[in-house]
Amino acid sequence: MYKTHFCGALRPEHAGQEVALAGWVHRRRDHGGVTFIDLRDRFGIVQVLADSATHPEAHAALADARSEWVLQISGTVRRRPEGMENPNLATGQVEVVAHAVQVLNAAKVPPFTINKEDGVDESVRLRYRYLDLRRERMQYNIALRHKVVKFIRDYLDAQGFLEIETPILFKATPEGARDYLVPSRVHPGEFYALPQSPQQLKQLLMVAGMERYFQIARCFRDEDLRGDRQPEFTQLDLEMSFVDRREDVMALMETMYTRMAQELVPHKRILQTPWPRFSYRESMERFGNDHPDIRFGLELVDISDLAEGCGFGVFEKAVANGGDVRGINAKGLGGYSRKQIDELTRFVQQYGAKGLAYIILPPEGGVRSPIAKFFSPETLEAIKTRMEAQAGDLLLFVADQPAVVFDTLSRLRILLGDRLGLRDPDVLGFCWVIDFPWAFWNEEEHRWDPSQHLFTMPMPEDLPLLESDPAKMRGTQYDMVLNNHEVAGGSIRIHDRALQERIFNLIGLDPEVARERFGHMLEAFEYGAPPHGGIASGIDRLVMLLADAPNIREVIAFPKNQAARDVMADAPSPVEPEQLAELHIKLDIPEEH
Ligand code: AMO
Ligand code: AMP
Repeated sequence: MYKTHFCGALRPEHAGQEVALAGWVHRRRDHGGVTFIDLRDRFGIVQVLADSATHPEAHAALADARSEWVLQISGTVRRRPEGMENPNLATGQVEVVAHAVQVLNAAKVPPFTINKEDGVDESVRLRYRYLDLRRERMQYNIALRHKVVKFIRDYLDAQGFLEIETPILFKATPEGARDYLVPSRVHPGEFYALPQSPQQLKQLLMVAGMERYFQIARCFRDEDLRGDRQPEFTQLDLEMSFVDRREDVMALMETMYTRMAQELVPHKRILQTPWPRFSYRESMERFGNDHPDIRFGLELVDISDLAEGCGFGVFEKAVANGGDVRGINAKGLGGYSRKQIDELTRFVQQYGAKGLAYIILPPEGGVRSPIAKFFSPETLEAIKTRMEAQAGDLLLFVADQPAVVFDTLSRLRILLGDRLGLRDPDVLGFCWVIDFPWAFWNEEEHRWDPSQHLFTMPMPEDLPLLESDPAKMRGTQYDMVLNNHEVAGGSIRIHDRALQERIFNLIGLDPEVARERFGHMLEAFEYGAPPHGGIASGIDRLVMLLADAPNIREVIAFPKNQAARDVMADAPSPVEPEQLAELHIKLDIPEEH
């Protein structure tokens, strides 16, 4: 046995015991004849010392050792001398006097310090991920992720759910992204698609009578990456039979995640229980997006009606062109300088706004604004009243097509929330967004695109609108939102072939193509498919938020970088011509590559 105890386990009651420890040199300090090291394993850190007078060999070995060497230590636990305790360390009341030190492996000088959480360039951290993962923060994140998944497994097991694996080599399961394809050697010219989610398979498991299914499922989507998106990521994927109301699935998830948060991150407080629900429309109107951060105000205010004929051309034109004028009252930022406002302007312009109109209400009173002069005193007063503005506030406006106004103001709202310290990391603002339109009109492609996916059941009372007024038909979709991130989405499903075919028709899917791509689903619906519904939750995003991590890469052991590369193993990478030949693939690579 290399070790009798974990480094982090030693306490005053172990004083006098002989122990064997093994781990990494976290830190080393020479004090003349005595050398101290902090020895680290996954369970913590303990101070070890060797005295040249009593144990010259152990002392020489410790004196030689360097950061990240792997050592085995035999020694005696003792209480630290009075006044030498370290209250910041769980083992801070004791130390281990080494009798024997064995070097299990030496280490090169690491490219960054393991014992400090200082800013190291992420590309270096990803290149040496196995070293980065030794750091305290990453150890915490990975352990928390384990606990989240274990909590889910235990909880759902107790509720009668079965964990069932579904294939990775499958057929395209569209969730709106591009597929990753895998060529078949034995079927020339044919490809598997890696699942964007197990959506079809879990529905088929309901037809198969499994009733309650879940899976910690890997999903693959070839899409543009962001801080909360990876090309492969993990979902808690879940489906239940004999549910026909969205409340059934929402209640299960709400209870499970509430208990999870209480157990795993007890220092955090859930903002509101039961979790508030917003219609898609309300969420857009108030927060500018469908994944709101509800921990703070600074909500959007619509002044389109006041902008009409207000005298300021930019506003008038926007409204005349079918657009909106909306604003945010940045409470207390009335002291902002021109330069600070220019910076906010550049921020919204980066997301497509043409400008950022502003009215400063300086703390000392009055109005400073390049646009206020266009307004009549009544209009200015009406805007101030609508926006609940006081001296010391800063009013910011975007005028444009609604999509641009919502997108830019929702981002600005988050930026201001951060600046004003309103996004308390110890608060979990869980909420639901419901009543999405079933489909959005895609102007470029001239077709209806499902706002969730094509298996989502419309709200039963809206079904008559399917052919007559699809824009007004709501879906049974529910999105679970936490602190400005969508952490889950699901719906009640269509389980009827005829309705599924009406949907294919709505989104303009050619019946021949529909049969080729989804024939197995349509066929299955004809063999006694039960009513069913489900949800899938992004585990990486959830853990990121519970761990206060800045992006999901921080909670994934071996993530891809922002360019979808694994920089440690260097993937993707070219393959041998023979491999391509075996797969019947000829490359046709554009010049610029
Ligand atoms: P959806 O596409 O909304 O639904 O995905 C469910 C949840 O998965 C997370 N997520 C991601 N996380 C990291 N990187 C990504 N690229 C990524 N894409 C999505 C989000 C999201 O809420 N089959 C349906 C679910 C269902 O209807 O049951 C689905 O996959 O947190
Ligand atoms: P301009 O008329 O271009 O000099 O702009 C006057 C002010 O209106 C500036 O502060 C611009 O940033 C702002 N502005 C211009 N276009 C828009 C717009 N579409 N929405 C909001 N503000 C705008």
